[in-house]
Parts: sequence; structure tokens; C-alpha cells
Amino acid sequence: MTNKTLFEPYALGPITLSNRVVMAPLTRNRAGEGLVPSELAAEYYGQRASAGLIITEATQVSRQAQGYQDTPGLYTPEQIAGWQKVTDAVHARGGRIFVQLWHVGRVSHIDLLGGDAPVAPSAIRAATKTFVSNGFADVSEPRALAFEELPGIINDFRQAAANAIKAGFDGVEVHGANGYLLEQFAKDGANVRTDAYGGSVENRARLMLEVTAAVAEEIGAERTGIRISPVSPANGISASDPQAQYDFIVDKLDTLGIAYIHVVEGATGGPRDVAPFDYSSLRRRFSKTYIANNGYDLELATSQLADGKADLFAFGKPFIANPDLVARLQGGAPLNQIDPATIYGGGAAGYTDYPTLAEASGN
Ligand SMILES: Cc1cc2nc3c(=O)[nH]c(=O)nc-3n(C[C@H](O)[C@H](O)[C@H](O)COP(=O)(O)O)c2cc1C
Repeated sequence: MTNKTLFEPYALGPITLSNRVVMAPLTRNRAGEGLVPSELAAEYYGQRASAGLIITEATQVSRQAQGYQDTPGLYTPEQIAGWQKVTDAVHARGGRIFVQLWHVGRVSHIDLLGGDAPVAPSAIRAATKTFVSNGFADVSEPRALAFEELPGIINDFRQAAANAIKAGFDGVEVHGANGYLLEQFAKDGANVRTDAYGGSVENRARLMLEVTAAVAEEIGAERTGIRISPVSPANGISASDPQAQYDFIVDKLDTLGIAYIHVVEGATGGPRDVAPFDYSSLRRRFSKTYIANNGYDLELATSQLADGKADLFAFGKPFIANPDLVARLQGGAPLNQIDPATIYGGGAAGYTDYPTLAEASGN
């Protein structure tokens, strides 16, 4: 039996990671004017560069893709320049960084979209809230996307992926999880279309697969990953047969030759056993890297690695309050706790001021 540890280097295709600990994507709602990542974002991500791989907060591929206040984009020259500062800061400290590209679909509000309705596979409103300039609000009634609009959305992902490479990212993670647009197409609770993008397992998978193929073609399959959350009810979504749906999706993703699948196991940020699902089926179907997420700590990650259940482990909440999470896990050190009041929006407080172990001990 091989004795793998979380703290050894890992070859993610052509990219060498210094360890198997991944920073999960974390929305922090601190983008500046023009939805450009701020100078503080460069400091924040730079502080976390000892992660084997950083996956950024979800980042819009277009104006229509936005669903929350002050989340960054990657579709203007100013946004590309802002992200370049982030990737420079991470690379200067020996880290690796992918950008997570999203389109929120129906999880949005007319106030964020210049008065336009959010778009969705079908005109079915999600039972969820979003965050706009004056606080939490119910999402707006969406309109169903026309068949003719879908090539434009695929192209927005392709263009944002090209922009990502321009901005110095090591790769791109397609956001196929958590009840946003691509998952809305994949799950029948949100998709009642009768065209080639709805009605069957194959049709529901189509947009997610076409987007991923376009990104892979643009920047290389070896720099492309995808996040999925087969049974998560996040943002008011549901699926009647997730095992069949995701077995199919992962078979097809494997033929695209992409670098990784990043699987949120269970309810995002909630119970890992929210619904029955055989994750080992996805693991078997996908020949490259499997990143596992949701509720991992050192003990669970260590045992799942030893059992061959995953190659890399993504930690979300622990990275908010622990810039040196890898050193803390490796040394068995205690973790800082998150201040819930400073998670979303604001400035440096609760963003770049969590101390490392050395800082906490005054060294
Ligand atoms: C503040 C916050 C922001 C998040 N933002 C994103 C995001 O932008 N994209 C995404 O895929 N998941 C997002 N998530 C989900 C996390 O990536 C992760 O799946 C979840 O926190 C469970 O992992 P953990 O138990 O290690 O925290 C977010 C979670 C939190 C707490």
C-alpha cells in the first residue's frame, strides 16, 4: 500500500501543485467599480498561496451572468487587468490558481441586470434569495432562454476562458454546481424544456458539456476542470434521478479529457449524506483527477486519500479564516474561527486580517 500524504506534491496534468490541499471557491462580494477585483483581492489570494491550488470565487462570464452584489467579472479589459494582479501575487509566492467561471442563470435579481429578467432553462422561479445593494431579496421571475441564445452563452464562457489565460491564470474551473445556470439545465426540477436541451438525461447534460468542451478547446483540456454538486439542493434546485444524470455527465467529461472533476459531496455547506449517491461511481468513470469537497477536515481527508476516494481535497470555510491553512493542518495547529459578520462585502476586516500562526504568536 502506498503511503500518500496530503502534503506531498501532485501533478495536475502539466501543473505541479505543492500539496493536495485546494482552496475551494469562496464568494466574498468585494469587487470594486466595474466589478474589477480589488488590490485587496490580490493580497487575500496571495496570503493563501501555500494551498496546492487556489480556485477563485465564482466570476461572471458576462453582465447577464451576475446574481449577487459586487461579485467580479472576467469580460472587460479592466477586469482582466485586475485579475492579473491577483495571479501575479499568487505566482510570486509559488502558488497555482484557477478561476471559477459562472453564469448564475435564474439566481439573480432585476436590480443587478439593469431591469432585465434573469435567464433560465425554463421560466421557473427558484425558491431562494440573492443579495442586492440593500440586502437580501427574493430572486426575480426568470425568463426561459431561447434555443438561439445558447451559442452566445457558450461563447461567453469560451471568451472568459481566453481572458483567464491573458490574466495569467493556470486554468479554469467551469461552475457546474450549486443551482446555477449549468446545473439548472442538468436538473429536471429547473428544466422542463422540450428542445434538444431538455427532456432526457442526455439533453439536460448538453449545455454543461458544450460549455466545458468550448473552454477545453480554447485553453486546453489539461487546464480545464469542472465543479458539480449532484445532490445538493443549493439555491432551490432538485433532481429526480441524480445518479443516472451524473454518471452520464461524468462519462462524457472523461471523453473530453479535462483535468479534473470537483465534486461537492452532499448538500453544499450542509450534510454530506443529504441524499443517497454513489460517488465512487463518478470516481471510477473519470480517469483523471478527482477533487472532493464538503465538510472535510484533516482526519476525513487523510482517510479518504488512503482509501483512494479522491486525489485532492478542497477546503472552503477553513480557508476564510486561515491563510496558512496548509501549515496549520500539517502541524496539527488550532484553526482561527470565522467572523460571520464579515464574510460577504466590506473591506480588509475579516478578509486580509486573519493572522497566520506566526503572526498570532508575535513572530
Ligand atoms: C462564503 C462562501 C462562499 C462560497 N462561494 C462559492 C463560490 O463562489 N463557488 C462555489 O462553487 N462554491 C462556493 N461556496 C461553497 C464552498 O466552495 C464549499 O463547497 C462549501 O463551503 C463546503 O466546503 P467546506 O465544508 O470546506 O466549507 C461558498 C461557500 C461559502 C461559505
